[in-house]
Amino acid sequence: MAQINPSILSADFARLADEAQAVEGADWLHVDVMDNHFVPNLTLGIPVVESLSRATDTPLDCHLMIENPDRWAPQYVEAGAGSVTFHAEAAAAPVRLAREIRAKGARASMALKPATPVEPYEDLLPELDMLLVMTVEPGFGGQAFLDIMLPKIRRTRELINKHGLELWLQVDGGVSEATIERCAEAGADVFVAGSAVYGAEDPAQAVRTLREQADG
Ligand code: DX5
Ligand code: ZN
Repeated sequence: MAQINPSILSADFARLADEAQAVEGADWLHVDVMDNHFVPNLTLGIPVVESLSRATDTPLDCHLMIENPDRWAPQYVEAGAGSVTFHAEAAAAPVRLAREIRAKGARASMALKPATPVEPYEDLLPELDMLLVMTVEPGFGGQAFLDIMLPKIRRTRELINKHGLELWLQVDGGVSEATIERCAEAGADVFVAGSAVYGAEDPAQAVRTLREQADG
């Protein structure tokens, strides 16, 4: 079954606990960490993740859009994240980092910006629990879905299947009722949705609708 991960980037940051509870029933809560260096935006860090993990039973899927994830990612596991995603473009030693995240007890995940190909990372896939194919340039919610990423989603799914791996394939950026079916058809199984969930009148219902659509 498809997993839907609402992104709290589109929530009201002054009411994070309520906003997290508004999407109970979602598989994971997607938490976008931005440092104003790797991307031109600044969001939240370790103390907020710690508080959020106490405020909700939904596990946290932390997407680190930061420089030097080798140094910081393990601390997000300690802060309560159940899954930690670092960017391939930022990690100095992705294999070592993925192993460290797993050793600390979280799922290890790696993200690729739109212009970063998946093929150079083929041998690394067994070290990961999830691969995130970005479908917008990271940095902001509410951007238009990049259709040109569909072939990359398809190629990533082929690589995963070719090696018989269990890893999840996540898409993030512009995922909505208008685009989720195409992503699912291309082989994605974990869907981040920010504005499509928190912009809806009933966020919990938006999660259910997206899941039904993805499951076809
Ligand atoms: C963008 C973030 C996304 C963002 C998605 O850099 O990684 O998680 O919140 O927002 P929507 O779903 O509105 O594109
Ligand atoms: Zn994200």
